[in-house]
Amino acid sequence: MLSPLRIGIAGLGTVGAAVIKMLDRQADALANRTGRQVSVAGVSARDAGKERGIDLARFGWFDDPVDLAKSGDIDLFVELIGGEGGVALAAAEAALGAGKSVVTANKALLARHGMRLAHLAEEKCVALAFEASVAGGIPIVKTLREGLAGNSIERVYGILNGTCNYILTRMELEGLSFAKCLSEAQSLGYAEADPTFDIGGFDTAHKLAILTSLAFGTVIDAEAIAVEGISSITLADLEAAAELGYRVKLLGVAQRTPDGIEQRVHPTMVAKSSAIAQVMGVTNAVTIDADAVHELTLVGPGAGGQATASAIVADIADIARGVRSAPFGLPAASLVKAPHAPMQLHKGGYYVRLSVFDRPGAAAAIATRMAEREISLESIVQRRRPGANGDAPGVAPVILITYATHEKTIRQALDAIVADGFLADKPQVIRIERE
Ligand code: HSE
Repeated sequence: MLSPLRIGIAGLGTVGAAVIKMLDRQADALANRTGRQVSVAGVSARDAGKERGIDLARFGWFDDPVDLAKSGDIDLFVELIGGEGGVALAAAEAALGAGKSVVTANKALLARHGMRLAHLAEEKCVALAFEASVAGGIPIVKTLREGLAGNSIERVYGILNGTCNYILTRMELEGLSFAKCLSEAQSLGYAEADPTFDIGGFDTAHKLAILTSLAFGTVIDAEAIAVEGISSITLADLEAAAELGYRVKLLGVAQRTPDGIEQRVHPTMVAKSSAIAQVMGVTNAVTIDADAVHELTLVGPGAGGQATASAIVADIADIARGVRSAPFGLPAASLVKAPHAPMQLHKGGYYVRLSVFDRPGAAAAIATRMAEREISLESIVQRRRPGANGDAPGVAPVILITYATHEKTIRQALDAIVADGFLADKPQVIRIERE
């Protein structure tokens, strides 16, 4: 048997504690699978005294994660501190610089500094592994990087944030308020320390930035992602979606288009019969459209201690075996800077909810503004009589579903409808994603 692999873990929150427990529980299996003992040698966290259900006295304690990262007592550094820079970045760089492999679950760090860290890892001939950074327990990084190496990928999209999917599911099925569902997700340990990262779509964007690089062989370009969160989604949208045969999901989508790579995060209408619409609660799902496999969907737990620890321990096991891939699938210097397709050129169907004053000519004006721009309507429905069900007196909800059109075109049509003065509120627009 090879010499033991000595691990240093910085960050002992829900995930760090779950990793230590999993390494304890699976010690024999991991030794058999990798051919060497895998053991924690040192740890670092903000609070040594916090109750975690683990005996920390067996490990070396480091007040400063950077000292742990550089320590001669460890071979591999696991970064679970979080945050896109600061001490997480300093510790990861210190470990790589000292010739130690790094395992991280930190999508924000990778979205911002992934290229720099990948270059450093390659220069030092060590691993930079981040399976846990995207979609929790789903092995999507390995799938894209190794499993689909013989494919050309056209599109990768998915439900990448467990907190948002949990909120949308609870709102739809239980009719609960947004705030109540968010607080449940927080108490279950799914949400980020700052939940605006979840509900604002930024956590999904960080994950999408990583998937895009792996799928298309491009340098990470998180700035190019158009991001919208779920806080504008109301029960009225979820009800209307259900009646029209759709469900609302927060999707991250990266797609090859004639104008370049389109990257977007936004609430999305998906057909109720589609695979992705069946994904409920904290579960994540990623679908890949590729030339050889056509369509591949992976579904699994996207957040929480156990699921995330599963991905981290898988990376640790690879490193114990001596596996070292180029972090983003190609040598970092070979990743290309692809042109980014602007959102204005996005083409797709749209759901539009309008709060319309019940006046003669309103429906005709709406239809005319759409027709002027050659926007074809799949359906137009007035959901109820004016003033019913909590709507303002004399105001009725009108829902339109369009066939494929450009983002720029639908926005122009809606600006014209607003200018006509028939609307009591600003239009709600949700893009439709077809399978
Ligand atoms: N806050 C994240 C989520 C955790 O809800 O999916 C996993 O990255």
